[in-house]
Amino acid sequence: MGNPVTKGRPRPTSPGTHPSGDDRFRYLDAAMKRQRYRPDALIEVLHTAQELFGYLEPDLLRYVARGLRLPPSRVYGVATFYHLFTFHPKGEHTCTVCTGTACYVKGADTLLGVVEQLTGTPPGTTTADGRISLETARCLGACGLAPIVVFDGKVVGQITPEEIVDRVKGWLDHGS
Ligand code: FES
Repeated sequence: MGNPVTKGRPRPTSPGTHPSGDDRFRYLDAAMKRQRYRPDALIEVLHTAQELFGYLEPDLLRYVARGLRLPPSRVYGVATFYHLFTFHPKGEHTCTVCTGTACYVKGADTLLGVVEQLTGTPPGTTTADGRISLETARCLGACGLAPIVVFDGKVVGQITPEEIVDRVKGWLDHGS
C-alpha cells in the first residue's frame, strides 16, 4: 500500500471519494462512525480495516487510533495481542500451523520447521516471490484433531510432516 493515510483527518464523513484518494478509507470511516467512534469498538474496527486493506500497516493503525481517539500504543498493543490480525501483505497461499499446546505436543514444531525449510520463509513472513505466507495460530479450537494446519482457509487435522510437504510442494511446483 502506498501512503494513502490522510493526516489529521480522522472523521471525514461526506459521501464521495475520500480525500486520501483511497476509497477504502471511506468505508473504514463509515465503520468507525457506525460504532460512534467508541474506543471499545477497536477490535471490530480493526477487523474491518484488515478486511479492507488485507493487513494492518503502522499508518493504518495510527489512522484507527486517531479515529477512535486512542493512543497508538494501545491500538498496536491490542492488534498484536490477537493472532487474527496480520501486519504484512499475505502471499497467494497461506499455511497456518497451530502451535497451541495440544498441537505443540503432537509435533507442530516439526511441521513448522518442515515448511520453513521448504519455503525458506520463517513463521510470520511471506516468501520473497509473494507466493506463500507461513503463519502460526495459538489454538484453533479443534485440539482433538491435533496437529492442525490450515491451508488457504481449509482446516486439516492429524496432519503428518509428509502431508504438509506434499501440499506446500504443490503450491511451489504448480501454484495449486
Ligand atoms: S492447540 Fe491446536 S487446535 Fe487447539
